[in-house]
Amino acid sequence: MTVLGIETSCDDTAAAVLRVGDGVEILSSKVTSQVAEHADFGGVVPEIAARAHAVRLPDLAAAALAEAGVAPAALDLIAATAGPGLIGGVMSGFTFAKGLSLAAGVPLMPVNHLAGHALSVELSGHVPFPYLLLLVSGGHTQLLVVEDAVTFRRLGTTIDDAAGEAFDKTAKLLGLDGAGGPAIEKLAVNGDAARYDMPRPLLGRPGCDFSFSGMKTAIRQHVEEAVIALDAADIAASFQAAAVAHLISRTARAIEMAGEARHLVAAGGVAANTLLRSELETLATSEGWQLVVPPLKFCTDNAAMIALAGARQYLHLGPEAISGVMRLAPRA
Ligand code: KG4
Ligand code: ZN
Repeated sequence: MTVLGIETSCDDTAAAVLRVGDGVEILSSKVTSQVAEHADFGGVVPEIAARAHAVRLPDLAAAALAEAGVAPAALDLIAATAGPGLIGGVMSGFTFAKGLSLAAGVPLMPVNHLAGHALSVELSGHVPFPYLLLLVSGGHTQLLVVEDAVTFRRLGTTIDDAAGEAFDKTAKLLGLDGAGGPAIEKLAVNGDAARYDMPRPLLGRPGCDFSFSGMKTAIRQHVEEAVIALDAADIAASFQAAAVAHLISRTARAIEMAGEARHLVAAGGVAANTLLRSELETLATSEGWQLVVPPLKFCTDNAAMIALAGARQYLHLGPEAISGVMRLAPRA
């Protein structure tokens, strides 16, 4: 089936066209970031994000369809993020998708953004179900066993901040410019990771949940006490080492609870971190598992993953999965 995907849940406006069947073919995938619009505010402003999606999406979707050489009426399915996310952005994208669905006579499949991340690994290659997913982004930190296209068993989630959020807040406390995670990683290269004490969250606590708020407090204290410029590199390195150690220790627990899975998939922007990748590789190897980290363009927010998840779930559940006005009569 030929599917148009729409993603607008945070600050990336994205549209993609895929052909999904036995395999997956990406005909087009377009993402525009709103980083510039939000730069002056120190974070994503929901109102600005929703307006930017509304302004950009029509041209972006048209460009994705044109690049794929597919007319709207030739689509078999439109898949759009229906949550979770910033509600203004979700509504902006979903309403656009609904309008196009009605105008073109194509069924509309609502997609959970996390299901998009959970299934996105197929964009870069086949990984057999079930697999363990470590999702580490700016908004989410979760461990999920992905059993099939619609069954996700959640083993753990953050009880406060997301991992990426912790990287971003640490970068802000250190006065670093640009994207938080990459800035911390770059600064940490020359830092001494043993210099500053960092908490070891939820140590000995059962389960696979995460907590990053204690690290944030520790960093704030260290920053207030630090006196020479060089300290920043040591703080960045100490934080990065603690954050990665926490992610690894909870993932190690999840491996014990993951049943028949033998593949570990990492997704989300934080999966770009070199230290995290190498520690995950070491962990997977020591357990006899295989680590799969898809290319970054599929790990971070994109519409190809929404198109893929929509198609896989529609094929799994059948047209009955779609209710009311979103289930349109097949075209003659
Ligand atoms: O998945 P993503 O692009 O967007 C969502 O949050 O959905 O993830 C962005 C997050 C940001 O918090 C960013 O600081 C973090 O991923 N990140 C990194 C690295 N690159 C991006 N964190 C640590 N190390 C990196 N190299
Ligand atoms: Zn995301």
